[in-house]
Amino acid sequence: TCDMAVAAAKGSRAVRQRRETEDRKKAQDKHWELAGSRLGNLMGIKEKPDETADPEDDGNYKESHQFATHMKENEAVSDFAMEKSIKQQREYLPVFACRQRMMNVIRENNVIIIVGETGSGKTTQLSQYLLEDGFGNSGMIGCTQPRRVAAMSVAKRVADEMGVEIGQDVGYAIRFEDCTSEKTIIKYMTDGILLRECLGDSTLEQYSAIIMDEAHERSLNTDVLFGLLRDVVAKRSDLKLIVTSATMDADKFADFFGGNCPTFTIPGRTFPVEIFHARAPVEDYVDAAVKQAVTIHLGGMEGDVLIFMPGQEDIETTCSLIKDKLGELDEAPPLAVLPIYSQLPSDLQAKIFQRAPGGMRKCIVATNIAETSLTVDGILFVIDPGFCKMKVFNPRIGMDALQVFPVSQASANQRSGRAGRTGPGQCYRLYTERQFKEELLISTVPEIQRTNLSNVVLLLKSLGVDDLLKFHFMDAPPQDNMLNSMYQLWTLGALDNTGQLTPMGRKMVEFPVDPTLSKMLIVSEDMGCSDEVLTIVSMLSVPAIFFRPKGREDEADAKKEKFQVPESDHLTFLNVYLQWRQHKYSAKWCADNYLHAKALKKRAQLKEIMQDLKIAIKSTGSEWDVVRKCICSAYFHNAARLKGIGEYVNVRTGIPCFLHPTSALFGMGFMPDYVVYHELVMTAKEYMQCVTAVDAIWLAELGPMFYSVKQSKQSRKEMRMESVRTVESMEEEMKEAQKEMERRKVES
Ligand code: CDP
Ligand code: MG
Repeated sequence: TCDMAVAAAKGSRAVRQRRETEDRKKAQDKHWELAGSRLGNLMGIKEKPDETADPEDDGNYKESHQFATHMKENEAVSDFAMEKSIKQQREYLPVFACRQRMMNVIRENNVIIIVGETGSGKTTQLSQYLLEDGFGNSGMIGCTQPRRVAAMSVAKRVADEMGVEIGQDVGYAIRFEDCTSEKTIIKYMTDGILLRECLGDSTLEQYSAIIMDEAHERSLNTDVLFGLLRDVVAKRSDLKLIVTSATMDADKFADFFGGNCPTFTIPGRTFPVEIFHARAPVEDYVDAAVKQAVTIHLGGMEGDVLIFMPGQEDIETTCSLIKDKLGELDEAPPLAVLPIYSQLPSDLQAKIFQRAPGGMRKCIVATNIAETSLTVDGILFVIDPGFCKMKVFNPRIGMDALQVFPVSQASANQRSGRAGRTGPGQCYRLYTERQFKEELLISTVPEIQRTNLSNVVLLLKSLGVDDLLKFHFMDAPPQDNMLNSMYQLWTLGALDNTGQLTPMGRKMVEFPVDPTLSKMLIVSEDMGCSDEVLTIVSMLSVPAIFFRPKGREDEADAKKEKFQVPESDHLTFLNVYLQWRQHKYSAKWCADNYLHAKALKKRAQLKEIMQDLKIAIKSTGSEWDVVRKCICSAYFHNAARLKGIGEYVNVRTGIPCFLHPTSALFGMGFMPDYVVYHELVMTAKEYMQCVTAVDAIWLAELGPMFYSVKQSKQSRKEMRMESVRTVESMEEEMKEAQKEMERRKVES
């Protein structure tokens, strides 16, 4: 039940915060609109009945059922708090108890599915067992992770366990960061990295064993790897392929790899978790989570707390609200409030695994990353608002948008399971039991079925997979998505009318960035601004350039304003970089100006690729209009026309979109008629992020398949029809050409 102390703690809040809350509430309503129903519709799944709120009560929780009770008898409750040596910790893991049996299965089979609860030791131990079993003698042991943070943090943990320095025997590779050496035998990497390695080495000769970890996440790259590795293991009988999964989908994986592929299950050691659902839908999930966390903390029961939040912004707000609330109370016991999300500097990330000073209680506020990829011991309370951020292809806007969606039932169950790792725990779901049952999808839609596939198409095409519709996917992407992505690549000039890779497409594959950005890099040579575009693309690859520390927002905003180039966020990035260079890449200068300076490594890597491709690096000096034109040449499909103050409409689709308040163009008293944007972010509204003013003429010149100078008179509907027609005619053309080729083949 709710604690009255919380009500007392409710103080007045700053105006800004209240506005944020309002925004969040609006956004939250929208998220639920997107519940099963809308995501389901996107995916062709039937709509479910509406939740009618149960208003009789103020959001207390009701206990619903007990969860996952496989507790072993006589299991000591939470002796984890005591310090243990690394060896003891390793031997305490469930996987250790069945090590011999498991290794026998691995020795006797080429492909093995290993299933175990999160935290049983799959990620950290398997690679070491393989090494100790001699697999390191004939090649590397690779382990893929869907998440960058997981790849880094797990590699560090394994290096610690083995008593070696990270980057030597044990290393990791993530996009733009290769921390391996000649000596590396155990290599953790993102699935995207291994996928790219397939380009240079299609049978992965360097590896003697590959662990595809976290397969249940069904990330886009893992799914593509599945298709590719299925062929590799058929060719290489000396390669061990181990697919690991938390408790879901094992049979499906085994089926995929054909008849005799065994599944080994690591016996679990979990404690019962009591689940409480909200009695009525909560009004604001951040407020509700904060309230619940404070209640738990003041409740006196021991154990650390884990709160799931969809993204960085909510995490930061949650952390500071918890601290504020406790600060307002006299004599609240101390609490270590620790955020974790992918953009957090890695020394701060590491804190979640450490013991808090003085044995203080920890309260970890995390993204989905803590759902299965990272395990923190000692969590006995989980607070689950039921949301996560997902990239979803949105047919309405014709592109991917990062949006907050309700989690699936399977995710919700994983999340609650986190409370039962080291002792009996509790999980507070900030949604009703009815919402759980009726609004949440049973399991998460695999990424491959919901995102833009242009990168995948480009990659598979260059691996020689000509007919993508025949590629062996575990779950095939919707054909529309595939065709749409091919269409996008065609408009960028990466595919020709027959669907074959063009020389442009071949170059684009080399860059580890989205097709739009690689196109920009390649085109910039002829426009004479490759130096500038190289900088802009590197800056776009580091998500946060500006930071706004709490309490010093105004100062940070003032500094930021000085860098802003009124007609372009892209050029603002360029400006930041050039000034940073002028200050000899000084870290102090960055700190003084509230900047995260991280683009250097990325720039160096992209520059190297450009040089390999013999793309000359040329600067236009102060002639920045050319740079804008070059930006336009890659983003012409994301063009918008001014409609009202701060309000634009997408030129192709007529969908309204808005300038983001953080844009350099916002509130400058200058509203260009036409802009292009990097991406759309959906919160309460559809916001364009990273915007540049362009000339209408450029759009007609650079995106002739979409725009002509006259076209602005066409109605929205006509334009939509037009773009539908274009896709159809491209398909027609491609089919025709294919027939033609087959005809020729037959003839010759
Ligand atoms: O992969 P799985 O979920 O089965 O487990 P794991 O990630 O190998 O975690 C095994 C143990 O290592 C857990 O008890 C974690 O707390 C610990 N670990 C850690 O202390 N630091 C890390 N960076 C990663 C794992
Ligand atoms: Mg794991």
